Formats: sequence, C-alpha cells, structure tokens
Amino acid sequence: MIGYRKVTGDLDLTGKVAVVVGGAGGIGEATARMYAHKGAKVVIADCKDNCPEVAEAIAADCGTETFGIKCDVTSQASVDAMVAAVKERFGEINVLAAMPGFVDLYRATDIEIDNVEKHIAVNAVGVFRVCQAVANVMIAQGKGGKIVCVTSQADFIAINKHVGYTMSKAALVGMIKVCALEWAEYGINVNGVAPTVVNTYMGEKAWQGKVKTDMIEKIPAHRFAETDEIAAAVLFLSCDESNMITGEDLVVDGGFTIY
Ligand SMILES: NC(=O)c1ccc[n+]([C@@H]2O[C@H](COP(=O)([O-])OP(=O)(O)OC[C@H]3O[C@@H](n4cnc5c(N)ncnc54)[C@H](O)[C@@H]3O)[C@@H](O)[C@H]2O)c1
Repeated sequence: MIGYRKVTGDLDLTGKVAVVVGGAGGIGEATARMYAHKGAKVVIADCKDNCPEVAEAIAADCGTETFGIKCDVTSQASVDAMVAAVKERFGEINVLAAMPGFVDLYRATDIEIDNVEKHIAVNAVGVFRVCQAVANVMIAQGKGGKIVCVTSQADFIAINKHVGYTMSKAALVGMIKVCALEWAEYGINVNGVAPTVVNTYMGEKAWQGKVKTDMIEKIPAHRFAETDEIAAAVLFLSCDESNMITGEDLVVDGGFTIY
C-alpha cells in the first residue's frame, strides 16, 4: 500500500537518502542540487569519473551530505557495487532518480542494429537494472520509496532519426507501468518525467542548426527547457506531495505534444 501522509506543499526531503544515476551533469546534476536544497543526502552516480567532484560541489553549496561514486548501468557488478556503497555510507535509500541517457541519431533505414541495442542497453535495461537493485533495498527496508525515471517526449510523438532512442524510451515507459503496479504494495511509487528538448550536452548533440530552429518554432512555449524545470518535476514525483501518482509519465514539453 502507498500510505496517506498529510502534505504541506513544501516538497521536503529532510532525512531522505536520494540516489541520482546519471547525476554528473545535465538534468541529473540539477535534480541532485534540488534534492540537496530540500534537505536530502544525495548520491551522484554516473559512468563519468567526476562524480566525487560534483558531489563535493553540491555539498559545499547546499550544506548537506553527499557522496559521489562511478557507476555504469550497463554492468550488473557496477550497479550492485554502487548500491552496496550507498548502503554502507548512508544506511538506506529512499529516493532514486534514474536518468542515464544515450542518443545517436540515424534514419531507421540506416541505423546499425548494434546502435539500437546500445540505446536499449543504457536507456531501458540499464535503468531497469538500477530500479530493480534499489527497489529490492527499499522493499527490505519496509518504508516505501520513490523512483523517478527520465523518459522523453519521444514516448508520445514520432521524431525523425530517433528510432533507437524512441524504442528504448518506449520500453522504459512499459517498465515504469509494470514496476509501479508490482511495487505499490511495498509503498513504492514509480513514475517518469518526459521532457522536450533540454539545454544539456544531449540536447545540443541532437538539435543543431535548422532542426533546432524548426523544433523551437513547433513548441508552443517557443523555447527548449532548462534543466531546473525538469528537475522540479522530478522533485515533485520524489516527495509525499505526489503519493497518489504512480505509473505516470509526466510531460514537461512547453506544449509540444498538444498536437
Ligand atoms: N536533453 C534533452 O533534450 C533530453 C530530452 C528528453 C529526455 N532526456 C533524457 O534526460 C536524461 C538526462 O539527459 P541530459 O539531457 O541531462 O544529458 P547528459 O548527457 O547531460 O546526461 C546524461 C548522463 O547520463 C550518464 N550516462 C550515460 N551512460 C551511462 C551509463 N551507462 N551509466 C551511467 N551513467 C550514464 C552520462 O555520463 C551523463 O552524465 C536522459 O535519460 C535523456 O535521455 C533528455
């Protein structure tokens, strides 16, 4: 059961341990900063080498405890080691933001099957690997928990040259629904946040030149999103304020998928 807890609208995470996978940059780092601002102890996990530095910078800015650890979601051993290290450092895990991401754009006639498989290995299976490992910790703790994955507007609408990415994110939406269904009895909410283009390394890689200006023209808000705007939605889905929301994929797209 996902129990009722009176909420204030403060989106408070004081005393919670929050793990951000894909946290060394972009939306992940913005989310980690917001969690820290709301009082959580924050773990930065990412396949990049700079996790400890990102964690230290957030601790210095927000005055909360943080921990940075390298983790590749395509490796079971790496994920298991990260989860064990977090438990050793902070004792428990209450919130997981799972948002590692890979994108490489080709038309469906041209993309190599290896490339499709890499999208699925990182964005779908890799995210599931982390969710499964952390959910088992949350179930053993017996206190429920919050899991938020970052999906994409590509869940809702076809986008040129996004076939590998879209296949992986569509699989992630399916995963979110099944995990939300199965883990509700343990008090665990599982949700997605589906952004439009966000001004990050990935956003710059996928949207340049004319495709960028054309895309901005199609978005009713007439701009791309900033990382803190996505982090705010992830934060909401990580707090008691959203206890009655599970299995959802919340679009944050400036109106792009209205059409
Ligand atoms: N930027 C956009 O336009 C956009 C739009 C919709 C959805 N998203 C999604 O948002 C999420 C965050 O992306 P971002 O825009 O912040 O991009 P980003 O490239 O800044 O961040 C992605 C992070 O994932 C990490 N990562 C990649 N592979 C990994 C692996 N195997 N194991 C662990 N970490 C790994 C990277 O090192 C990086 O820090 C992704 O899931 C992405 O698909 C992004």
